[in-house]
Amino acid sequence: MNVSLLPKTRAFLWKKNKLLLLDQRLLPNRILWRTCRTWQDVAKGIRDMVVRGAPAIGCVAAYGMVLAARQTSGEARHNVAARQKQLEKGFDGLLKARPTAVNLRWALERMRRITREGGNLEQEAARIEAEDREANRRMGEHGASLVDSGATLMTHCNTGSLATAGLGTAFGVIWTVCRQGKLKKVLATETRPYLQGARLTAWELKNERIPFELITDSMAAHFMKTEKIDAIFVGADRIAANGDTANKIGTYSLAVLAAHHHVPFYVAASMSTVDFSTPDGKAIPIEERSVDEVVTIGGQRMAPKGTKARHPAFDVTPAVLISGIVTERGVAGRPYITSLHALASMERFSSTPSPVSGEGSGEGPLTPALSPVGEREIR
Ligand code: MRU
Repeated sequence: MNVSLLPKTRAFLWKKNKLLLLDQRLLPNRILWRTCRTWQDVAKGIRDMVVRGAPAIGCVAAYGMVLAARQTSGEARHNVAARQKQLEKGFDGLLKARPTAVNLRWALERMRRITREGGNLEQEAARIEAEDREANRRMGEHGASLVDSGATLMTHCNTGSLATAGLGTAFGVIWTVCRQGKLKKVLATETRPYLQGARLTAWELKNERIPFELITDSMAAHFMKTEKIDAIFVGADRIAANGDTANKIGTYSLAVLAAHHHVPFYVAASMSTVDFSTPDGKAIPIEERSVDEVVTIGGQRMAPKGTKARHPAFDVTPAVLISGIVTERGVAGRPYITSLHALASMERFSSTPSPVSGEGSGEGPLTPALSPVGEREIR
């Protein structure tokens, strides 16, 4: 593994008997690692957005299953059927944590297969993590090939190291374009209501020394009209078989604006985000989160008490508005129903990617500020 390709930031670290989650709710103001010792801790961490981002959720859920296996006690320790029953409880509990990101189900199903085959769960979770990191690197290269020198790119939400096991999806493309010397700047949207853009993407862009400007979501149309935006790259939480894509709320409006202003609009995601069992966007479940996240910012009330509000956390961008889907196997074009299937039938990777330290995310070049000292229990 080329260490220079490892991100400075990590969303999670597996430490043999426990999983550490960087509490993203506190960023960028505070670095705090939460300790998960049970699958219930991991499910709570996912539900409460301690960790978020589709691929990261999948990876930590896989480690949640490792913890579930270690929690088996009493009769279940020696009885295969009883053990399997306890693991199924972990599977169901983790699956329920967040409904839209399909990577969660994808990773859990992989882990379930290993439990049924009596394989090594820890190794499988580490493999899922290492594959995601390698997929990020590859999609970064494929995505960067779509961008010319001097590019101004726009992105939405957070798709970087905090949302994945590696460099990120859309963020990985931007990172690669920057390292290739082709990037002028990034316009990052703040991403109301949870502010993943302002709190997380701006923090990651700064850490990686990538030139950027933060804009509010409502400024996107203005900048597409008044400045030359060369392309928009966003991530995905679930891509239906026909290419319709669920991603952070606000993605759909960016795609509509991009079509009006003739700006190429790309989705970057690994193949684990493609859900062939979902025929189109109408069938994607959209998570509705608490309206408190809309009527307050940072705990401060922004609307009168008793205000009715809505909070769909994701929206679906129709395939027709997407210029290309960048994956680790190449860039799919329209019609996605055929191009995505063609990518799915390709060899996965020519060589098996290896985990950083041979045991998942244990070690790596974290920024000193991110070293997991002062861990707290999950809360
Ligand atoms: O609610 P979140 O913060 O988990 O939503 C994250 C996104 O929508 C990302 O854009 C998506 O997961 C793709 S990132 C790799």
